[in-house]
Amino acid sequence: MFLTATLPLLLMQQAPAGDIDWDKEFGVEEVERDPVTGEIPVEPYTKSNANAGATPFNSDAMAAHFGGRDGIERIADRFTDLNFADPRIGGIFAGHDEVRFRRTIFEQFCYILNAGCDYTGRDMQSSHAGLGSRKADLNAIVENLQQAMREENVPFAAQNRFLSKLAPMSGDVIER
Ligand code: HEM
Repeated sequence: MFLTATLPLLLMQQAPAGDIDWDKEFGVEEVERDPVTGEIPVEPYTKSNANAGATPFNSDAMAAHFGGRDGIERIADRFTDLNFADPRIGGIFAGHDEVRFRRTIFEQFCYILNAGCDYTGRDMQSSHAGLGSRKADLNAIVENLQQAMREENVPFAAQNRFLSKLAPMSGDVIER
């Protein structure tokens, strides 16, 4: 009974059109990653270590506390993973280029810790403009960095010295 009543209706429905480009209809632009770096290209900007937002430590003692370049890379990787997976701030990171963040945050940390890198990313103000981050989001990020440093056994005093270098950037990375 059910079938005899509904079958004609089902047959009358039109098959979904397969030839509509819905991205085009809704104005969604295709994002193409660089085939070599795997990153999404950004608007042109002037590359400079000044964009890192802090001057490096004078000696290589801090880099040694962080386990050298390898240790810094592990910390930057872990920090990236924690931020993108963190439900407190995941909404802000969602849709941003994790590949680029992983590279540039490593460069920034490596440069500031005087471990022999240049920073090639954007400055803190322009890269955080429009994200709408608040103080609570900054606290979440700092907690994630502390966790990443703790897991690499960075001595507590060295953790705090590094955080003191980043603290003056807060006015550029949060909006309210
Ligand atoms: C002192 C604290 C912070 C530092 C040192 C920092 C560092 C950086 C660096 C180096 C980049 C890459 C810039 C580039 O792509 O050229 C970046 C991007 C980004 N940061 Fe931060 N950040 C901080 C605070 C925050 C906070 C509080 C949030 C929000 C929870 C945040 C969210 C993001 C996002 C979503 C991006 C990607 C932007 C994009 O893809 O255009 N950051 N940050």
